[in-house]
Amino acid sequence: MPKITNRLTGKNLANLFERDEVFNQSYSAADFQFDKKVASVFDDMVSRSVPYYLEMQRMTAELAQDFAVSGTNVYDIGCSTGTTMIMLDRMLKPKVKFIGLDNSQEMLAKAEEKFALEKFTHPYELGICDLNRGLHLENASLVTMLLTLQFVRPLYRERVVRQIFDGMNDNGCLILIEKLTSEDSLFNRLFIDHYYDFKKRNGYSETEIANKREALENVLIPYRMEENFELLREVGFKHVEVFFRWYNFCGIIAVK
Ligand SMILES: C[S@@+](CC[C@H](N)C(=O)[O-])C[C@H]1O[C@@H](n2cnc3c(N)ncnc32)[C@H](O)[C@@H]1O
Repeated sequence: MPKITNRLTGKNLANLFERDEVFNQSYSAADFQFDKKVASVFDDMVSRSVPYYLEMQRMTAELAQDFAVSGTNVYDIGCSTGTTMIMLDRMLKPKVKFIGLDNSQEMLAKAEEKFALEKFTHPYELGICDLNRGLHLENASLVTMLLTLQFVRPLYRERVVRQIFDGMNDNGCLILIEKLTSEDSLFNRLFIDHYYDFKKRNGYSETEIANKREALENVLIPYRMEENFELLREVGFKHVEVFFRWYNFCGIIAVK
């Protein structure tokens, strides 16, 4: 097995995360779940499946510095194994409290392990929350939601974004990273092809790529860029801008 190190600190995490082989030959089709099997390989999976993953984390933390305010809460929604929270913990000087939310207990358990290893410095809480059932935020100056809104059922997406907005202070900032679809089928196909080439370069086989695509079909539902913008503007965000784009991936910043 190749050595897996923490992308932020270079610490050896080989005992925490295995290599992602979830979708290899032996995989039997089922809808994708963030269960124990996925949690045990998640950091390897996400860094080989999301282009510029580490750079997007760094940019998120850099932008976060412009908005996090002492005495407020910083939320990471869909915090998974805590990578964003660790990056923010290192880069944010204000005395904020971190709150990480996810609906996968297995992911949160991995986050706890990483926080202990990385010696997390700010006060924090990790909580179970199913976004499809709604959420409650308060006193938030910063909310990050990376690669997660895309998993919320479209029926509930506006409610989630509205609840985030309601829990934010004035001038509070929401940082979103999302996979996109494109209205133009030509570009949609080209971008997806180039994305699969990226995955191949990172060691995934055709079979693994096809199996994962099938498993994600009804689970990850990407919006068009314009749909994300409309959603954010409709709930009341005053400033909305793209800060990152790579084919079918984007980073969006929105300020209340
Ligand atoms: C792709 S991962 C997010 C990656 C993470 N934010 C990062 O930057 O490394 C998506 C996360 O959203 C969580 N999730 C998916 N559906 C959810 C829901 N309905 N409610 C809460 N969390 C959900 C999953 O458990 C998973 O941890």
